Amino acid sequence: MTKWTPDLSTGVAVLDEQHKAIFQWLAELESATVEQRTLFGVYVITRLKHYMREHFAAEEAMMKAAGYPDLAEHLAQHAEFRAKLEELQLKSIGEDISMDTVRFLNHWLTNHIARTDMAYVPYLNQKR
Ligand SMILES: [Fe+2]
Ligand SMILES: [Fe+2]
Repeated sequence: MTKWTPDLSTGVAVLDEQHKAIFQWLAELESATVEQRTLFGVYVITRLKHYMREHFAAEEAMMKAAGYPDLAEHLAQHAEFRAKLEELQLKSIGEDISMDTVRFLNHWLTNHIARTDMAYVPYLNQKR
């Protein structure tokens, strides 16, 4: 279920690599949940949170440099997701991560890349 697929490719190599790494963390989170490895789950969601922070910063810098017109809306989505991850990470310390959480993250990320990230592709390409 949690997998990067070529239809999610932005054609921007560095961002595709980051998106693939995000899905790898998500697959780890799924294993932690299925195998009920609580501490591993806390570790993975923490790493995912830090990784997302770096990825969002990289993406935001590239959009700014390209003069992407819908930057504000994109930043708002990132901010909302960062807050959600913060909340889920704190929750993971006190209780097991549920499959609903894994599904939510998978759905959000797939949807965000397929729609929101894909919209910046022509602008980033124009710049290069
Ligand atoms: Fe992204
Ligand atoms: Fe994004």
